[in-house]
Amino acid sequence: MDFFEYRDGELYCEEVKVADICEAVGTPVYLYSHRTLVDHYRKLDTAFAEIEHLICFSVKSNSNLAVIRTLIKEGAGTDIVSGGELFRSLKAGVDPKKVVFAGIGKSKEEIEYALNSDILMFNVESINEAYAINEVAGRLGKKAMIAFRVNPDVEADTHHHITTGKKENKFGIDINIAVEIFRKANELPNLDVCGVHAHIGSQILSSEPYVKSLGKLVPLIDELRQNDINIQNLNIGGGLGVVYLDEKPQFASDFAAAILPMVKATNCRLLLEPGRFITGNSGIMLTKVLYVKRTAAKNFVIVDAAMNDLVRPALYEAYHRIKPIKITSDEEEVVDVVGPICESSDFFAQERKVLKVQQRDYLSLFTAGAYGFTMSSNYNSRPKAAEVLVKDDQYFIVRERETYQDLVKGESIPKFLF
Ligand code: LLP
Repeated sequence: MDFFEYRDGELYCEEVKVADICEAVGTPVYLYSHRTLVDHYRKLDTAFAEIEHLICFSVKSNSNLAVIRTLIKEGAGTDIVSGGELFRSLKAGVDPKKVVFAGIGKSKEEIEYALNSDILMFNVESINEAYAINEVAGRLGKKAMIAFRVNPDVEADTHHHITTGKKENKFGIDINIAVEIFRKANELPNLDVCGVHAHIGSQILSSEPYVKSLGKLVPLIDELRQNDINIQNLNIGGGLGVVYLDEKPQFASDFAAAILPMVKATNCRLLLEPGRFITGNSGIMLTKVLYVKRTAAKNFVIVDAAMNDLVRPALYEAYHRIKPIKITSDEEEVVDVVGPICESSDFFAQERKVLKVQQRDYLSLFTAGAYGFTMSSNYNSRPKAAEVLVKDDQYFIVRERETYQDLVKGESIPKFLF
């Protein structure tokens, strides 16, 4: 459920007419619905109400401070993968005791920053990383809580770029030698080994891969406890899929019903790290048609957003619904929707039947709230888009559009070149 809808042919976000934002703020612009963010969060939170749980919002999906803040106010913690994401989380006001830190390559500086911030837990991905955390914690006179990320070797049935739980992926520790690694870490004086973590991929549409993964994690937890390793936290990662076109993702309640019996059997606190589920359909990207170019082979709709703003189609051939924000007729045509960047992969749709558009029309790319702005870049020296948050009948610019001056921030020309 989201709060973007057409009323008399005009797209609204909650009670705000999207056209008004395009006119006032310009394009390209990302637009987020506060009500949708909260609704998605609450659906998941309610689904797990009967057990002790913590939802750590995966900041990589959308790291705008206002978005993080919205979720923190609902009770969320954050799932971070860098010092930068920790900085953002803290700036948004997160309770550090609700922050979990994942990623296979944490630097000593990042580990120190996290320990000094008193985060809840590290999701550790190798024994050498455990040694590094132990060393830094010792130096700081702290004890670090850790979970090992276990690679359960299950097929998540999603795009090969975003599956992470197979044994050939670079993530986590091999489940077959997990007990040995947990035992080694458990002997280190500055670590409290208290959790098992697994994240098997992203845009997963059914509970089946999670059930399979838990089928391996639950016996592992038993075995670890038999080895006097005090596991109290079970983190099942993120990965819940959303609708881009006509997918049939699971409801939060069905997901919970499928996995709760297994989770309960462990008596662990449950941690979840959803990103896309919360932010995906909470955001759209708006762009303006600059030109329509008709060639013998194709019709190109050239827009003012590009792969630097939303890279998912270029990178994963991802599908985003595209519609004008003002619908005046139902006439359709087959087009390529492309950006101004000098690369053929700079497209948002190829050979797609869309409602006929004209120069100066505004288009919406839907389901752009997750991995949209966060994956944007300055390629072709294009300033990054603005971000706007809508609440009821008001909107707030939550990130200014970058300027040309921002593009050269920190750069300098050495004297010898003058
Ligand atoms: N936890 C961990 C350890 C992760 O690596 C990820 C995502 C998440 C949680 C959140 O996953 P989600 O609930 O959003 O599926 N850029 C790709 C997606 C990459 C996902 C990376 N890890 C895309 O645009 O589809």
